Formats: sequence, structure tokens, C-alpha cells
Amino acid sequence: RMRIAVLTSGGDSAGMNAAVRAVVKAGISKGCESYVVREGYEGLVRGNTAPLTPRRVAQRHLPPERLARFSNEALVKNLSFGEGPALKEGAGDADDDEEGGTLKGRYIVQVGWDDVRGWMGEGGTFIGSARSATFRTPEGRLKAAHNLIKEGIDGLVVCGGDGSLTGADRLRSEWPELVQQLLASGEINEHQAALYSHLKIVGLVGSIDNDMALTDLTIGAPTALQRICEAIDNINSTAASHSRAFVVEVMGRHCGWLALMAGVSAGADYVFIPEQPPKSEPWEEEMCEVIKRHREVGKRKTIVIVAEGAHDRDLNPIKAEKVKEVLSNVLKLDTRVTTLGHTQRGGRPVAMDRILPTLQGIDAVNALLEATPSQPSYMIGIRENKILRIPLVDAVQQTQAVAAAIEARDFAKAMGLRDPEFDQ
Ligand code: F6P
Repeated sequence: RMRIAVLTSGGDSAGMNAAVRAVVKAGISKGCESYVVREGYEGLVRGNTAPLTPRRVAQRHLPPERLARFSNEALVKNLSFGEGPALKEGAGDADDDEEGGTLKGRYIVQVGWDDVRGWMGEGGTFIGSARSATFRTPEGRLKAAHNLIKEGIDGLVVCGGDGSLTGADRLRSEWPELVQQLLASGEINEHQAALYSHLKIVGLVGSIDNDMALTDLTIGAPTALQRICEAIDNINSTAASHSRAFVVEVMGRHCGWLALMAGVSAGADYVFIPEQPPKSEPWEEEMCEVIKRHREVGKRKTIVIVAEGAHDRDLNPIKAEKVKEVLSNVLKLDTRVTTLGHTQRGGRPVAMDRILPTLQGIDAVNALLEATPSQPSYMIGIRENKILRIPLVDAVQQTQAVAAAIEARDFAKAMGLRDPEFDQ
């Protein structure tokens, strides 16, 4: 029986719970044992230091049909809303409290069918997420490999953004070397080294930024876009009442997808995105000229959306406060700045962020079950409405190529790499 573990990593996004649910349930229904890793890669590095409680031992010995339906409210409670990340120094060494069922000292936890009941429509990630600095070190990855082998995990699903999937790809490529190191230091034996010679790993893209190459959509991006759209709808009425201008800063890191799509769906007079800075220098003139024209035809409100990673053609950041200054001083508009911040990331997933992670989570399990050592690790994407498997290494490389093109100020190339259909 394959043991499949799933973790969520990096910034949370709506739909991550649905992804975990899908992996857990698909795994069980295909005869695997399902595990969750709490707190992202940090949990993988920390592993299990506290012993299994009698309750969990019993859980292990239940026949699979019973185990699959094992209702464990305490476990769910602690997975979901328990003591929190327990990432403080030493927290991982605390004893497991068998009565309360806390998960102190246990980061890699077997779960049953009922443990993920009701997770589909919940925001954030119940199993916790982190941006682990330790996992970025060779020692951290060695510990992670050891913990996976100790727990007998032979398939791993990572749900996270480009940084997290880059980490997954790194773990995959270093795996044979890590196994050899563990064997040489006596941490594992010959039998384990042979059994776990190949790590099966699959990536699901969970990020509000929609910044991963070779997939049309990432889990959480539709929800974040909806949040932005609703926020701008709200701003519109107050802006028009006072004939004001609003500069709305949206998330997206180095990617302008949220800003651009919000501009289309909620309506904006001007949008700043990293991939396509204003054509002329200085950018102030071009923006003012457009907004002036809109005001002259009778618009009572002005909306400018600024992606948090926006910059000019020389890569100098374009910040919302600076845009406000220009609108106030040059166009004499009564201007306010609204930074939407983490309201974009939180809350219940929209329907697409339930369907996408469910279909992709099921395919992630299928991909693990079908994986052979000669095949690459896959990222599960969606293109033209089809769920696809894309070599993880290609997706990571192409995403890095977009960043490099922006860095080199080759903006047309960046747009072309993000979207091959893009027409200058
Ligand atoms: O990658 C997701 C994201 O929300 C970005 O859009 C944003 O730049 C960043 O994470 C914010 O990170 P944090 O939650 O650590 O402030």
C-alpha cells in the first residue's frame, strides 16, 4: 500500500483545503494510506518526535474499511484550529497528549476519510503553511528526506506557489544523493535505501498570484480576483459619489495577472503591471493623459490599479502613494489609496477554487500511482480547460525565465513566456 502525504506551502490560498481533501480521499479510495504534513516543509523537516498515542496505534490497526471512515473529531479539531503552528523553538519536542489528541511533536499525521469532511468550502489551509527557511538548507532537506523515509511515505503532493514547487523539484533532483548520505551516516539501512531510492513527488499550484508558467490558472487565483472585484465594486459607488480617484494596490508579487484581470472585470482607468510597464517615459504623462480623457467625457470616478510588483521601464518601483501624488498634484483629483492586502487571500473559495483543486488533487494521486523512476515529476496544471500533467522542472524553469526576462527589461519576452498567445 502506497503511503501518500500532502502538504501546503508558502502563502495560503483559497482552495488549498479542497486540494488536501481531494488528495486524502482519492488516496484512500485507491487503496493508499493518506497522510498530511502540518506546517508545510517545516513540518517535513521537524517530522515526528513524539510517540504515537494508543489511539493512533489503534487507528493503524483498524481494517482499511474502518480506517477509511474513521471519525476522529479531536484530530480534525487539532489539525484545523488547534494550538497553531507550534513552530516556536522546542515545541516540536513536546509530548503528544493522548487525551486531548493534540498533535504536538507530530507533523506527519495519518488521516482518514472523515478527517477532511467539510473542508471543501473552507478558506486558508487547515494543515498549516509556512515559508520554511530550514528546508532551503541542505541539512534541512536531508532531515526532510529522513523523516519521509522513517514514516514510510513513498509519494508526496506539494500544494504551493512557484517557490514551493521549486523546492519540490530540488528535493526530487537531490533525492538519490540524500538517500546515499543517510545510508552512509547509518540513519537508514540498505533495505530502506533500496525501497526509497526514488521519491515520487507531484506539485499542485496553490497561489493567489497565478504566476506559474505552463498552466492557465492556479488554485486560489479566481477567489482572490473575486475579492478584488467585489472591493472595487464597493469603492466605485463611494468614488463616484465624491467624484474621487482611488488608487487600489493589489497583491500578485512579480505577476500582474490579478491587477490586469481586476482591471477588466471591475473596470479601471489605468493598470500598472510588472510585465508591461507604461510605454512612454515618464509614466506620469501617459497615465494623466488617459485619465484626463476619461474625465473629459464625463466620468465621475477614477480607478487606478497598481500591482504590488509594478515598476517603470528602468525597474524603479511604481508605488500607490506616488500615483496618488501625481493624480492629486497634476490632475487636481481628490485621491485616496486603498491597499487591499490579505483580504484578497482570505475567505471561502469560489466554485472554481473547489472544482480545480478537486480535479487536480485526484489527478495528483493518479500521477503518483502511475509514476515510474524514468518519468519526470509532474505539476498538475490546467490548459484550455483540460487538467494536464506538466514536467515540474519545465514549469519551474519557464517561471524563472519570465522573472529573468523582466529583470533584463525584455518585457515583450516576459509577456510572451507567460502567455504564448500574447500579441504585442
Ligand atoms: O504569494 C502570495 C502573496 O499573497 C503575494 O501576492 C504577496 O506578495 C505575498 O504573498 C504576501 O506575503 P505575506 O503573507 O508573507 O505578507
